[in-house]
Amino acid sequence: MKIVVIGGTGLIGSKTVAILRQGGHEVVAASPRSGVNTITGDGLKEAMTGTHVVIDLANAPSFEDKAVLEFFETSGRNLLAAEAAANVQHHVALSIVAIDRTDNGYFRAKVAQEKLIKASGVPYTIARATQFMEFLGGIADSSVDGNTVRLPPILFQPIASDDVAAMVADAALATPRNGIVEIAGPERAPLTEIIARYLKAIGDPREVVSDPEARYWGGRVDQRSLVSLGEARLGRIGLDEWLRRSKAAA
Ligand SMILES: NC(=O)c1ccc[n+]([C@@H]2O[C@H](COP(=O)([O-])OP(=O)(O)OC[C@H]3O[C@@H](n4cnc5c(N)ncnc54)[C@H](OP(=O)(O)O)[C@@H]3O)[C@@H](O)[C@H]2O)c1
Repeated sequence: MKIVVIGGTGLIGSKTVAILRQGGHEVVAASPRSGVNTITGDGLKEAMTGTHVVIDLANAPSFEDKAVLEFFETSGRNLLAAEAAANVQHHVALSIVAIDRTDNGYFRAKVAQEKLIKASGVPYTIARATQFMEFLGGIADSSVDGNTVRLPPILFQPIASDDVAAMVADAALATPRNGIVEIAGPERAPLTEIIARYLKAIGDPREVVSDPEARYWGGRVDQRSLVSLGEARLGRIGLDEWLRRSKAAA
């Protein structure tokens, strides 16, 4: 089965490509560097020829509100039109848990991406993941206040990229859900506690300050703004195991 992974050179894309290739599938790791660009349309038609499944794991080069919205809208439109023309049988996309009930510019762009998928007529599965453990440093950096990191003590359940890639690969090989599946890490704890454990483990001296009024990427959040409200499929790699693996790989 031919599978095209858009964003196949990225964090999740490269791991997903490796898993599917190990399973004996013909996998194209598509990205601008390999001549496939969902914004300009370059290489899209050729990549789609004979393709059964497309997995969209592209990410925007800029997370600025307007730029990220434009990226996911243009990319989604071009990609889904090319898939429809080539009669692709399954579109799999990676989205984020709670984007439709938690407000920030990046989440609004992912909502727009999901809307295009649902309206495209291409059979689809949207996998909504919680935040990647690889993103914990970025969250800390986004909330710096002098020598401290100021965060709301809301519930948080990050997932390791290895677990995400395994579940995305599973979704791509299954029948299209024409709906959403949610995936999350095995451990739920306050965001403040998880970031503090992360900073301590990497030897970062910044202290985490708990502030119920602090925002998450500029948006207001409450206790359950970033976690699944239903039954998410859980990964196997907890934070301590992920930290151990990250240290061993460094
Ligand atoms: N961060 C989180 O916590 C989180 C949580 C849930 C879901 N997600 C979603 O997960 C997805 C993958 O994220 P990631 O962190 O793995 O991304 P990433 O490491 O930043 O990789 C982005 C990929 O997109 C490709 N790309 C960029 N512009 C492109 C274009 N115009 N056409 C085709 N490909 C393009 C890049 O190709 P080059 O290498 O050639 O530049 C790269 O392969 C994203 O959609 C994100 O929204 C993220």
